[in-house]
Amino acid sequence: MVKNRTCVFISGQGSNLKNLIYHSRDNNFPIKICLIASNNKNAYGIKYAQKYKIPYITFNTQLKNYNNKILLNLRKHKISFICLAGYMRIISPNLIMKYKNRIINIHPSLLPKFKGLNTFSRMLKNKEKRAGCTVHYVNKKLDSGNSIVQKSFFIKENDKVSNLKEKTQRLEYKAFPEAIIKIFRNKTNS
Ligand code: GRF
Repeated sequence: MVKNRTCVFISGQGSNLKNLIYHSRDNNFPIKICLIASNNKNAYGIKYAQKYKIPYITFNTQLKNYNNKILLNLRKHKISFICLAGYMRIISPNLIMKYKNRIINIHPSLLPKFKGLNTFSRMLKNKEKRAGCTVHYVNKKLDSGNSIVQKSFFIKENDKVSNLKEKTQRLEYKAFPEAIIKIFRNKTNS
């Protein structure tokens, strides 16, 4: 199978990145992770780039030319697909245009509910019945692109932010690879 050359953007722990690296080592999984990009040079997730010998870049979004650095590297590594996995910055409109329908994000809520940050505390405050995660396409509006895969669970009375996060992440490790398979399966069929 010809694998789609992918860049994963991270900002922190990188547990979704680790999970995607694990899946991408399977010959039948449609992506190969060829670049990791982080706005945080101290992100724990960079350790996975080092461990699995995957090229990586770090950049500072306060600097004017950071976007050029990203674009140059995406070109250099012939990247055709982008996964945002805990990337805590906005993607520039320029990059969204260049990679139209080829950037996906994982978000810890059942979108369109609870876009943005602090999803779990807002869910609890709102006395939601269900929590979950959404893998969706990235467009110019925050957390608003079409949904690809969604997974949910019932919130229990004694759930707190910390265990909601844990339960959600467990679902994320299934939802992200599933979404990637779904995207490329549809592409081959169309
Ligand atoms: C994930 O829970 C994801 O939903 C959110 O950020 C978190 C990143 O976790 N966007 P990790 O860095 O993959 O461990």
